[in-house]
Amino acid sequence: MSGIRWHDRVFVVGGTGSGKSELLNYLFSGMSCQKMLLDTKPEFYIPDVAPVSRPGDIDWSAPVIHYRDLAANLGDYDEIFYEAHHRRNFLICCHEFADLCNDEPSRVPEWVRKSLRKGNVFGNGLLGGTQRPVGMPRQARTEAQHVIHMVPALDPEDEQIVARMMHMPVRELDRQLAEAAEISPDPEGRFSAVWYDRRAGETRILPPLPAEVRSQILVRRAVDLDAHEPATDPDDRVER
Ligand SMILES: Nc1ncnc2c1ncn2[C@@H]1O[C@H](COP(=O)(O)OP(=O)(O)OP(=O)(O)O)[C@@H](O)[C@H]1O
Ligand SMILES: [Mg+2]
Repeated sequence: MSGIRWHDRVFVVGGTGSGKSELLNYLFSGMSCQKMLLDTKPEFYIPDVAPVSRPGDIDWSAPVIHYRDLAANLGDYDEIFYEAHHRRNFLICCHEFADLCNDEPSRVPEWVRKSLRKGNVFGNGLLGGTQRPVGMPRQARTEAQHVIHMVPALDPEDEQIVARMMHMPVRELDRQLAEAAEISPDPEGRFSAVWYDRRAGETRILPPLPAEVRSQILVRRAVDLDAHEPATDPDDRVER
């Protein structure tokens, strides 16, 4: 998607199953800088990349890092963002950005906050997704270069936050979401989006990623690989 650079802050918002992760994984795959998938659920695997689950086990020289989080510890996120912030041209992708602050937007770990505010100065980017914009770090609302809202609309509280991030009234955002829904082959209009590009000062309608593009995505879902040890095994999960 032209206009999105690896050092931008990009936020993809939308309800469950609206296609956020597919789009984030597509964007992540296309970035040619050093990058980390911060998999907080965890739900993905990357062929030929062994996941690690403790900050101390991360090989910071690897071109692609998969951090499969099992602890949901904000201190670990702080450590990871501290290291990442002191690098150059480093991208972090996190599919549930609200996990980085345990859904408490004003209690964001120090280095997550600093990365959001200053990371782009060092060429460091963030790709974030969320179902609940109201729960994501507050700085994410003001520092985004790109905001992508998947069809359909969210609840009014979240919708208001996203409309503000996109510098448009809620009614206009709803109108554009309806327009986006119309170009999707999905009966419910899913997988289309409204994309606000702050740098260009433009809003665009984004059609669903076609199947041939989706098949090229580097990051796969753990459930898609039978031979792979499933990352979503309930026994692996830590209660939050
Ligand atoms: N462009 C698309 N065309 C067809 N199917 C898609 C498209 N994008 C996503 N999907 C499918 O829709 C389902 C949900 O997509 P995805 O996991 O990306 O949603 P999500 O918004 O991240 O959901 P969650 O909030 O649960 O994490 C997946 O099975 C995915 O393969
Ligand atoms: Mg997802």
